[in-house]
Amino acid sequence: MNTAVRKAVFPVAGLGTRFLPATKANPKEMLPIVDKPLIQYAAEEAVAAGIEQLIFVTGRTKRAIEDHFDKAYELENELAKAEKTRMLEIVRNVLPPHVECIYIRQAEPLGLGHAVLCARPVIGDEPFAVLLADDLIYSEEQGCLSQMVEIHRAEGVGGVIAVEEVAPADTGRYGIVAVASQETEVGAIRQIVEKPAPADAPSNLAVVGRYILPGSIMEVLARTRRGAGGEIQLTDGIASLLSQERMLAYRFHGKRFDCGSKLGYLQATVAFAMQHPELGAAFRGYLQSLR
Ligand code: G1P
Repeated sequence: MNTAVRKAVFPVAGLGTRFLPATKANPKEMLPIVDKPLIQYAAEEAVAAGIEQLIFVTGRTKRAIEDHFDKAYELENELAKAEKTRMLEIVRNVLPPHVECIYIRQAEPLGLGHAVLCARPVIGDEPFAVLLADDLIYSEEQGCLSQMVEIHRAEGVGGVIAVEEVAPADTGRYGIVAVASQETEVGAIRQIVEKPAPADAPSNLAVVGRYILPGSIMEVLARTRRGAGGEIQLTDGIASLLSQERMLAYRFHGKRFDCGSKLGYLQATVAFAMQHPELGAAFRGYLQSLR
């Protein structure tokens, strides 16, 4: 069995109601942070981690995602004619040529666990990654998924899940894990629950949108009943899997921005604009001028 993580699932069928009307006709994953759509940041993080197959679980109104990763003949011709070589490079190199994109439709919004299950025919029994593009992770050096792939390989475990501490009052917004020792960077997951009320939460270690999971989770998800919010939850699938697979929670290095919320989206925009190779200096100057 292949133990290298070569495939990544991007559940992108969600409606993005928090950003209406911007997301009425456009996918939320196509909202830009400076000059790149959210989904491209996630795809680049996956490719940097060695992923070769990107599996997008899409829904209606998500065509723009397919177009974004497709070849844009007319645009390329126009840019070539106008000798806009730098722009042409950018448009051509959205993904490196060895990376393959696969699109699967999730016909009904039955939850994150169901979205992942939709990718079963492509995943087979291989380990795979799941990336939620809403969680944009800025890392100075190694991307979050690359860090996780290294731990997965070194520890020879079934899965690795990225976590971070959140305010105890916010546990109801996340999957929450209990680990053997909360002090260490990597800890064996003892328990995982979806969106517990603060009083019921086993800790304040929250799951962020990066997972490495074993192919065996598909069988488990196929049997998982609807949980929190009436949806088939990935968290519940992982909880069932704990009896058969060793799963690690990993406190990643980097800063996560919750781009599913307007405030997080704006914070990410400011952070990425300040670091931008062309705009950074001017933008930092502008921010200074506001003080
Ligand atoms: C999903 C997961 C949750 C996780 C979160 C991370 O929730 O169900 O366990 O903590 O992503 O962003 P959602 O944000 O889709 O409600």
